[in-house]
Amino acid sequence: MASSVCVVGAGVIGLTTATLLQDALPAGSLVTLVADKFTTDTTSDGAAGIFRPGKYLQGPSEQMTKQWLEDSYKHYKKILNSEDAAEAGVKAVSGYLFSNKDPKIIQSPLMKEIIDEYRECTQDELDLHDQKYGTFCTTLVIQCRRMLPYLMDRFKRRGGVVRKQHVNSLEELADEGCFDLVCNCSGLGASVLANDRYVTPIRGQVFKVRAPWIKNFYYHENDTYIIPGMDMITLGGTRQFDNDTTDVSTSDASEIWRRCVQLLPSLKDAEVLRQWVGLRPYRPSVRVEKELMKFGGGKTLKVVHHYGHGGYGVMSAPGSSMYAVSLICDFLQHHQHHRAKL
Ligand SMILES: Cc1cc2nc3c(=O)[nH]c(=O)nc-3n(C[C@H](O)[C@H](O)[C@H](O)COP(=O)(O)OP(=O)(O)OC[C@H]3O[C@@H](n4cnc5c(N)ncnc54)[C@H](O)[C@@H]3O)c2cc1C
Ligand SMILES: *[C@@H]1O[C@H](CO)[C@@H](O)[C@H](O)[C@H]1NC(C)=O
Ligand SMILES: *[C@@H]1O[C@H](CO)[C@@H](O)[C@H](O)[C@H]1NC(C)=O
Ligand SMILES: *[C@@H]1O[C@H](CO)[C@@H](O)[C@H](O)[C@H]1NC(C)=O
Repeated sequence: MASSVCVVGAGVIGLTTATLLQDALPAGSLVTLVADKFTTDTTSDGAAGIFRPGKYLQGPSEQMTKQWLEDSYKHYKKILNSEDAAEAGVKAVSGYLFSNKDPKIIQSPLMKEIIDEYRECTQDELDLHDQKYGTFCTTLVIQCRRMLPYLMDRFKRRGGVVRKQHVNSLEELADEGCFDLVCNCSGLGASVLANDRYVTPIRGQVFKVRAPWIKNFYYHENDTYIIPGMDMITLGGTRQFDNDTTDVSTSDASEIWRRCVQLLPSLKDAEVLRQWVGLRPYRPSVRVEKELMKFGGGKTLKVVHHYGHGGYGVMSAPGSSMYAVSLICDFLQHHQHHRAKL
């Protein structure tokens, strides 16, 4: 049966969920995207977008997390191998995870299982970069400055409706009475909207620079990273737990610059395009859950929550959205089943 679903949030999570929903819902269904911020105003926009699962990414279970990552990698790989790759901002990138301190820093067991190329560095590579431990791998970068407009375009072309609006509470949406279900992809907004005290900002500051001679990515200790996207390079960074300061800090900036240039001296000639601070919507585990919300006067609203991807929302968006979409379809059927019985 055709349904009307509202997706709150137009970051990479909301947009990916909305477009996958369009594929999954029966003909005649309507998907409405509601958000107060779009494209360059979202957290997603500034993410480096590298596919590099770290230990802090946790879905509802270990096995599901792995499934999300496999599904996500496959999804992006398909775009990479299609004619949409450049428009969507997906490219393959090789690079290094380095450390002088601890061999564990350079190991990424999840990555090893999923991506195409993953090996220990040769002694020559280590010597060249003056490092003790290193891993070389080839993975993907998804640049949201391209991916978000690409998804938005697809969404609209297939009949999706977009509304710019701040949602104060889900009850507002319930009051409209026109949605069979709302999917809550509000990122950090969920701490208020979902009254979810587990959602915490992790502050990240970066430079966006132009340095076209740099082709590889580099990771080092102390949250130092150099990640080339399609037409800019992200230099980072910081990971400040429970810090929601979005102003660019000059002392963070000089420290990031120092660490990146130390790792890759040719960066001193890079052209700085802009500086940016984003707040990663961290939650100990990503929330993808059904909830039947009850309001005064016997009003109810079916909600599927989908937020809390922390520093890994870009890489895990397709897989976690596929799961959210399966919950949505399931919940809608359940709903209609109930109605039918009444
Ligand atoms: C410096 C930095 C580097 C990063 N690098 C990477 C990386 O390399 N790889 C990776 O995978 N991830 C990375 N991330 C993480 C990634 O940016 C996030 O996980 C991802 O953007 C989360 O997406 P989202 O859609 O949940 O949130 P957002 O992009 O924040 O979108 C939230 C949406 O919800 C809407 N919203 C919220 N509240 C309301 C409300 N009340 N009413 C209406 N609308 C509302 C907003 O307007 C917005 O449209 C990085 C993050 C930072 C800060
Ligand atoms: C997100 O979910 C919470 C419930 O956990 C709710 O209070 C909040 O209104 C939701 N936000 C949106 C925009 O759907
Ligand atoms: C990382 O930080 C530690 C502690 O502040 C410091 O001792 C170490 O030298 C730093 N490493 C690099 C590569 O900057
Ligand atoms: C948040 O980060 C900024 C910039 O790094 C820093 O100046 C400030 O002290 C931090 N605030 C807290 C509460 O840690």
